[in-house]
Amino acid sequence: MDVVEGRTSGNLYTRYGLNPTIRSLEAKLPDLEGGEQALAFCSGMAAEAATFLAHTRAGEHIVCLGDVYGGTFELLGDNLPQLGITITFLRADEVARLDEVLTDRTRIVFFETPSNPTLHLFDIAAIAAHARAAGALTVVDNTFATAASGGRSPPSPAASVPAGLRPPQ
Ligand SMILES: Cc1ncc(COP(=O)(O)O)c(C=O)c1O
Repeated sequence: MDVVEGRTSGNLYTRYGLNPTIRSLEAKLPDLEGGEQALAFCSGMAAEAATFLAHTRAGEHIVCLGDVYGGTFELLGDNLPQLGITITFLRADEVARLDEVLTDRTRIVFFETPSNPTLHLFDIAAIAAHARAAGALTVVDNTFATAASGGRSPPSPAASVPAGLRPPQ
């Protein structure tokens, strides 16, 4: 019970974040990715769903830029709207319209870079600057360019939550 209730450290049920293998991974990832902190999930969609649900509520808004993985498109285009979260999709060639679609209800600007399937590359720092000015987090899925695949996550000050995944600043 001392471990469960946080009075002492120890290893316990994975669901409580007390699995030593996962904690070891989470401790190493920030060094590999140039980040501050990492949370490991059992799948990419679990990471995305947790991030979106942690940072948006009914009546709030997410902007999605460019093409995205099919499961992500379903989550954003179908599942989250059922919870009252609105989504604006902009094509990659419409990024200049970002300021137009940001509102005081926008909580997240999301994109993949490189994107799936077209491998489009976005200017993370530029987009994050617009998102931050509007009070929104920038969430980046960099599945195709993690340290594991020889790439590197976006520089940490630029984006709030690269889906490698770092927590918000
Ligand atoms: C860019 C991208 N994001 C997210 C996912 C979802 O990851 P997972 O299959 O681990 O849920 C995929 C899966 O291929 C992907 O290509």
